[in-house]
Amino acid sequence: MNALHELKEKFRPIIAGFVADDVSKTDAMLAMIRPAGDAKHGDFQANFAMPMGKQTGQSPRAVAETVLQQCNLSGICQTVDIAGPGFINLKLDDDWIKRQLKSALADSRLAVDSVTNARNYIVDYSSPNVAKPMHVGHIRSTVIGDALTRILNFVGHCAKSDNHLGDWGTQFGMILYGYKHFRDQEAFDSDTIGELSRLYRLVRKLIDYHGARIKLVVLETALAELETQQSDLKQKQSESQEKSAVKKIKKEISQIEKRINDAAEKLQKATTAIDAVENDSELSLLAAAHPEIGTAVLLETAKLHAGDQENRDLWTTFLPICKQDMQTIYDRLDVEFDMALGESFYNDTLGAIVDELEAKGFARESDGAMCVFLDGFETPMIIRKKDGAFLYSTTDLATIKYRMDNFDADACLYVVDHRQHEHFEKLFAVAALWGYDEAELKHVSFGTVMGKDGKPFQTRSGDTVGLAGLLNEAEKRAADIARELNEGIEADELKENARVVGIGSLKYADLSQNRASDYTFDYEKMLALKGNTAAYLQYGYARVQGILRKVEVDPRPLRDAPVEFEFETEIERALAVQLLRFEEALSDVLIDYKPNLLCNYLFDLGQTFFKFYDQCSLKDTQSETLKHSRVQLCDLTARTIKTGLALLGIGVLDQM
Ligand code: ARG
Repeated sequence: MNALHELKEKFRPIIAGFVADDVSKTDAMLAMIRPAGDAKHGDFQANFAMPMGKQTGQSPRAVAETVLQQCNLSGICQTVDIAGPGFINLKLDDDWIKRQLKSALADSRLAVDSVTNARNYIVDYSSPNVAKPMHVGHIRSTVIGDALTRILNFVGHCAKSDNHLGDWGTQFGMILYGYKHFRDQEAFDSDTIGELSRLYRLVRKLIDYHGARIKLVVLETALAELETQQSDLKQKQSESQEKSAVKKIKKEISQIEKRINDAAEKLQKATTAIDAVENDSELSLLAAAHPEIGTAVLLETAKLHAGDQENRDLWTTFLPICKQDMQTIYDRLDVEFDMALGESFYNDTLGAIVDELEAKGFARESDGAMCVFLDGFETPMIIRKKDGAFLYSTTDLATIKYRMDNFDADACLYVVDHRQHEHFEKLFAVAALWGYDEAELKHVSFGTVMGKDGKPFQTRSGDTVGLAGLLNEAEKRAADIARELNEGIEADELKENARVVGIGSLKYADLSQNRASDYTFDYEKMLALKGNTAAYLQYGYARVQGILRKVEVDPRPLRDAPVEFEFETEIERALAVQLLRFEEALSDVLIDYKPNLLCNYLFDLGQTFFKFYDQCSLKDTQSETLKHSRVQLCDLTARTIKTGLALLGIGVLDQM
């Protein structure tokens, strides 16, 4: 049950009449019915009379009156009034609220209805490049994708998760090259995954070094040129008298400054890559001995793709080891995939896809490469390189075809870093050309994880932070807090507590941010018991369990045989209304795939609950029925928190 939705449906036919049955206009008007900002004005507020008045040339108040005359809200609303120029304030009927609460109480789904337009979704998330250590960015993709999949399925869609592993790309060429030239056999035998990631990092460093050496002069010249332009402009600015000219120059200067910053950053990166090697005598020797390492790595990759026996055998040896290593992280995060069809899965289909696109006239050769030229894009999408190699894009096209043909997907969500936005824009444009234009293809992009210093989250040595270490630290800190909260906690309980709170907090910190923004990784904030954190909600849940133990009432029999709810105080009614907004929150999440809207809802619920807890005793009530009514509110609160957190992939504890 979604009260907001029910209200909208009551208004729909009347508003449609006003806008000559224009569906999108009707929807836009209905979107102006919202939860009231201030409870004094009721539970919901409708502001559509203003724009409708403008359109029809009537006063908004008159519009509001006419709409209300035609709209029968009896039964659902207790009072409906028009305020100010034409705001409509809607207050839900107490009996209606109580009826809805009872049905939520009796329902394991808390009266969340299944959607009527169920769709087949594929959610592509996590998707790390195998052989390359997973980093903090992969947590974002993993927890956001996992939460969306859970929510979609809960509301009645059919969502399948797919871990589109990068198990076929250049990074494999890197470890193949590393294995052949730099391996430490003893280390490989005793700690294979450790050795593979050492090899990956080593090869990466050497490639970056040579790349930076080549680019260095170009980057230095570019920066110097920009700086000259900047000083010329400053000179011009000081000589210029005219206001509008000064304004124009200032704008140009600020544009140049931006470009200078970008160029300086690139140069900085290059010098760091060079220093990393030149400040280390061993690395310097290796770099000198492997000047062509970049090309050689590409060659190893190409050989793998062409079926070279040695490389295939090595790949078959490495892959399960790398996958096993990733699995330990997924197990700790409690994330499961329906499929993990990596890039290699599509290898055999790529040639035919390029041929098909060419035959249909969508792709053509340019400088030896096969390209799809697209309106609105500066560069084409390359689907086969000059040397015959296929690309990330080619595989993604094959993946779309596979998902449409085999799963009849109505929507594919790609939970991937925002930096890949251009890739996805092109991919979706090509897919549409190709005829896959009916499904919703959506890049659910997210920002960068930042450290407290305002820079991308990195270790001191400049490496990205490994995932296992991150999870360990979160659990360790959660254990410290648990020990502080209850001395003498048993070891087993402590471990479980640290896992549920530590991992839960880490996930929640990420999920509670608007995914589009960068977010700052901060252990202290994420584990705080106060604020919009998992620990706060888990604490609320445990609080309810504590209360129920104290008043010695088992809430379960009340679920099917409830007492009448009583709203003795305003806060009980407010908590009730908030409880009934769960479905609304879930449906808000799915509008633009933003799990933070569920977090916001749960946080509001937590805050309302703690106010209720402060103001309403369960022990000293005038009557048994009032006590039971409050028990029922507590029970619903705990179950809503538990279900909501579970949809975010986060657990709860009976005691904290
Ligand atoms: N493996 C890629 C990376 O780590 C992400 C893949 C995302 N999914 C996709 N279908 N392109 O950058």
